[in-house]
Amino acid sequence: MQTVTVNLVSTPAQRGYPIHIGANILAQPELILDYLGQKRVAIVTNTTVGPLYLDKFRADLSVHGIVSVPIVLPDGEEYKNWETLNLIFDALLTHRCERNTPVIALGGGVVGDLAGFAAATYLRGVPFIQVPTTLLAQVDSSVGGKTGINHPLGKNMIGAFYQPQAVMADTSTLDTLPDRELRAGIAEVIKYGLIRDPAFFDWLESHVDALLERDNSMLIEAIERSCQHKAEVVEADERESGMRALLNLGHTFGHAIENAMGYGNWLHGEAVAAGTMLAAEVSRRMGMIDEGEVERIRNLYVKAGLPVIAPNLGPEKYLRLMGLDKKVQGGKMRFILLENIGRAAVHADVPAAILTEVLTECTADA
Ligand SMILES: NC(=O)c1ccc[n+]([C@@H]2O[C@H](COP(=O)([O-])OP(=O)(O)OC[C@H]3O[C@@H](n4cnc5c(N)ncnc54)[C@H](O)[C@@H]3O)[C@@H](O)[C@H]2O)c1
Ligand SMILES: [Zn+2]
Repeated sequence: MQTVTVNLVSTPAQRGYPIHIGANILAQPELILDYLGQKRVAIVTNTTVGPLYLDKFRADLSVHGIVSVPIVLPDGEEYKNWETLNLIFDALLTHRCERNTPVIALGGGVVGDLAGFAAATYLRGVPFIQVPTTLLAQVDSSVGGKTGINHPLGKNMIGAFYQPQAVMADTSTLDTLPDRELRAGIAEVIKYGLIRDPAFFDWLESHVDALLERDNSMLIEAIERSCQHKAEVVEADERESGMRALLNLGHTFGHAIENAMGYGNWLHGEAVAAGTMLAAEVSRRMGMIDEGEVERIRNLYVKAGLPVIAPNLGPEKYLRLMGLDKKVQGGKMRFILLENIGRAAVHADVPAAILTEVLTECTADA
């Protein structure tokens, strides 16, 4: 088992928290006993993950005398909303959960974001523990304290920064994850290499096949390195006033793709891969990375089974979905661009003409 620590200066009451990464650690609740303020916890999960892992987890907790209240939500991004959040509050209130009753999120990013927001707001905040079960959640969403829900007018528009007490990333749970979800998670792993770690990018070029084959030690290494990066970025900029924005490489384009194609048709990681190719091409045309580097990025995504060509929505629709339609007249726009493989920066000087060209020439009819 590996442990990465997130050290936060901005939340003195809660100096830091461990991220435990390893096979079968879900069967070791002793790792989290210190964080349980009482002999009762609420476990939030969904109708897919619950049947796979909930009973065993509850039984393992009960060995330590911990009683658990299960809260099983419907599965899907479309349920990341107020109605589902209220189901969590209903259950917490019905079972008279108290200020020191921890909420544990057992599932992917959707469960984590919902349960985290519930923990942040129930009784003005109760202890929270993340047990992420998708690769995306293990390398990204469970670390860093962003929680929240979607609004009909926008994704992740309502939420809170609320750090967990601990994260338990059990790589054995990835055995049941569908291939497509695994690949989508790899897109976020590649992102860390692209924005801040050229050696990790090299490592991924030679180990992505092993990740796709679910080689456990390789998965642990990829998750550990990803969590170290996420932790460092969050430590430096917990509330995203600067550096944390780099984690959104490819995401402005990606969100437009997800939104235009209908949520769920393109998985988030898939849209991020195709969106990052657009960002790479803008970077190349701005005189940053060269054609050879663009090719290396494309090849790694292809090897990971991720899409590299974004759908052709037309530049106008892209700009509208990216919230840039009003800014295009001004001529210059802000984007996260790649200066090298391993170095990203925010650039506020992207000419509208380059953006329009890339959105026209580097996309294909869906
Ligand atoms: N808070 C953050 O910082 C942050 C960062 C990135 C993404 N997110 C959010 O995360 C969400 C995406 O997360 P995700 O990719 O984990 O999607 P998800 O939570 O929808 O999980 C994907 C699918 O896999 C299933 N699943 C989960 N674990 C499984 C397992 N071990 N075996 C079999 N099936 C399993 C889920 O039930 C679901 O059907 C989005 O809502 C996104 O906004 C949040
Ligand atoms: Zn993402």
